Amino acid sequence: MNQHLQALLTFLQESPHHTPEEKTALSKSIKDVDKELEIALFKLDRTEKVKRTTAILLEETIEELENKRKAIEDANAALSRSLEELKAAQTQLIQSEKMASLGELTAGIAHEIQNPLNFVNNFSEVSAELLDEMREELSKGNLQDAIDMAEDIKQNLQKILSHGKRADAIVKGMLQHSRKSTGQKEPTDINALADEYLRLAYHGIRAKDHSFNATMNTDFDPNIGLVNVIPQDIGRVILNLITNAFYAVSHNGSQPPDSSAPWPPEGGKNYAPTVSISTKILLPPLGGAGAKQVKISVSDNGPGIPAHILDKIFQPFFTTKPTGQGTGLGLSLSYDIVKAHGGELKVETKEGEGSTFIIQLPVN
Ligand SMILES: Nc1ncnc2c1ncn2[C@@H]1O[C@H](COP(=O)(O)OP(=O)(O)O)[C@@H](O)[C@H]1O
Ligand SMILES: [Mg+2]
Repeated sequence: MNQHLQALLTFLQESPHHTPEEKTALSKSIKDVDKELEIALFKLDRTEKVKRTTAILLEETIEELENKRKAIEDANAALSRSLEELKAAQTQLIQSEKMASLGELTAGIAHEIQNPLNFVNNFSEVSAELLDEMREELSKGNLQDAIDMAEDIKQNLQKILSHGKRADAIVKGMLQHSRKSTGQKEPTDINALADEYLRLAYHGIRAKDHSFNATMNTDFDPNIGLVNVIPQDIGRVILNLITNAFYAVSHNGSQPPDSSAPWPPEGGKNYAPTVSISTKILLPPLGGAGAKQVKISVSDNGPGIPAHILDKIFQPFFTTKPTGQGTGLGLSLSYDIVKAHGGELKVETKEGEGSTFIIQLPVN
């Protein structure tokens, strides 16, 4: 019992001023108060303990939270490092895709340079002979003949110059392709660009595979004029589409292994691999809104693209080609380039019949 209450109780019991009944009643009250006090003290003690436990728990929780925060910070740092690494890897991949397509072009470029080079060699030889003859005529005093020959030589030199310039342009184009895009839009002859890449791609494939043969159709709209684009970039898109088209008509391997229709049809009998490229200017409807657009289509009569992979072909790294033959980056890069020009890249395809890829660019 509480010692003060105990003192009170003793004092009461010894008190001469209270009747025994009063003493019993008062003692009971004092004992009740003591009980209540004990309960209150017990509760207080418990609350105190709970408070202490809670404080400890709180401390632990704070520590745990701090640990978690640190872990998240570390994870974040690791993530940004991986992101940086991924970005670097992507740049690297894009560059190697570029170099791969340059590799494909090399043979075509060599073929294209060979022609002007032959001219330069032949005309130089002929001109040297003409000079010998001219000297002879001069020593004989045939002035008129010598003058005529000088005129011939001059014309030859002009031809040498023009073919030299052609080779120069090809080499410049090649360098432009391998160089980082300037990112500058410039007025571009889309028809010439398409024609150039078609020939380069064709000779490139021919140089690697002599048995390869395909009919090439071109249908260029003469009314396109110059279109403001980044020529290296749009050139790459056209090259990617043409390379895919040539692959489609020459390898039934471009078909996914689970494709149903056998290809080429009739085991290749009566099959004429054909790749077509066309351009067209699309005018907005009379009085209608919208800008003029130029449409570039690359078609092939290859195996077509099965429905179940159609929504994947623009994804980076998606390829159905054997390892080493496809990067799966051609279409995804092309898609990005066309988007960056404010245009659209679409595909229409029918299994067993072929595919058409369509670039649509706004003309400003
Ligand atoms: N003209 C086409 N005909 C049939 N399939 C095509 C054609 N063009 C693209 N594809 C499909 O789209 C895939 C992705 O093409 P792309 O991004 O250029 O990568 P890659 O040519 O390296 O495979 C190809 O592997 C092929 O399955
Ligand atoms: Mg490709």
